[in-house]
Amino acid sequence: MTGAASNLPAVSGTRLLDRLERLARVGAIDGGGCRRLALTDEDRAGRDLVTGWMRDLGLAVTVDAIGNVVGVRPGLEDGPPVMTGSHIDTVATGGRYDGCLGVLAGLEVVQTLNEAGITTRKPLAVGVFTNEEGARFAPDMMGSAVHQGSLALDEALDARDRDGVRVGDALARIGYAGPEPVGAQRAAAFVELHIEQGPVLDREGIAIGAVTGVQGISWTEVVVEGVSNHAGTTPMDLRRDAAYAAAALAVEVRAIATRLGPPQVGTVGVIVPEPNLINVVARRATLTVDLRNTDDAVLQRAEALLADAIDRLAAAEGVGITTRRLARFAPVPFDPAVVELVERTARGLGLTVRRLPSGAGHDAQMFAPNAPTGMIFVPSRDGISHNVAEHTDPAQLEAGANVLLRVLLDLAA
Ligand code: GLV
Ligand code: MN
Ligand code: MN
Repeated sequence: MTGAASNLPAVSGTRLLDRLERLARVGAIDGGGCRRLALTDEDRAGRDLVTGWMRDLGLAVTVDAIGNVVGVRPGLEDGPPVMTGSHIDTVATGGRYDGCLGVLAGLEVVQTLNEAGITTRKPLAVGVFTNEEGARFAPDMMGSAVHQGSLALDEALDARDRDGVRVGDALARIGYAGPEPVGAQRAAAFVELHIEQGPVLDREGIAIGAVTGVQGISWTEVVVEGVSNHAGTTPMDLRRDAAYAAAALAVEVRAIATRLGPPQVGTVGVIVPEPNLINVVARRATLTVDLRNTDDAVLQRAEALLADAIDRLAAAEGVGITTRRLARFAPVPFDPAVVELVERTARGLGLTVRRLPSGAGHDAQMFAPNAPTGMIFVPSRDGISHNVAEHTDPAQLEAGANVLLRVLLDLAA
């Protein structure tokens, strides 16, 4: 790096907020949130906006075969870049910071370095990874998983949403099936800034989280096949009620999490009975189960308990139950040296910092097996996320971006 280390520049919080605001207008929904599901028109518009900013900042932009957009800023030397970035797709009822902060803080770092005339030794890169959320297509972290080689490109392109639309077709439709081969780019290191999406930093009044790793994630789709019948005439003991079995399974998931205790969590986020009518016993119900734990052995125990509950319920209600694995990620530890660097950098800026694991999945976890990787968290007000009310104070966003700037400079120097 050229330039005096003691005289390092700082990011512009105003500019970061302005870009966050402009991106939040794409797919804006009531309450200040966003609906930019992966590979929809809204996702395309968000990508167009961000890609335009990348080009304005002088980054060399590539789009790969799974739609990941990467903008590279040259260094004094060639070779793999130090990477940052995240995602701009959202859940259907998302906030404006989840993912977008990591991407736009990356651009803010680039602009700050451009204006300060600083060239790092290693190149820097900012990535926008396809379908991190997994809310439309499973698995989540799809683009970064393909980028880092843990998910085959063909498998990702063949994933379908609930309406049967293929990822490959949706990607081509929005114009983001790019020519860059996947796996062509390796990272010298990867650091992602993200909102915590949980309550720890906010509750403790701490500015920065040095993320130690990401907990294991197990996603299963469950389909219950029962028999449709008249709600008024069918005696209770003759029912094979798919909606009842689905609801009972949701209760079982809560019981499993309670029995195993923290940090085990379990969520049934989707329950869709068919035909979904007041006076018809449901013939089918589709539900999803999201189980997570920092300890893979306990997560496996939760999965086994779920399988037992499914067998018991199927027999008791006389329904057929099939399952399909949507995603399975083991817990991922981050590089201790990067965790330490985040901590040290935050302290050096006079910010309070603590270590914590991530409860949410992140693109960074896909880089962790292949490059020194870490994450920086900033607080989420009341721990609210995947909700339009998601909020982080401007000063906290700016502080996170300044930590990112310094950490990237350190890794690329
Ligand atoms: C992704 O955001 C997840 O953790 O579900
Ligand atoms: Mn995210
Ligand atoms: Mn998310």
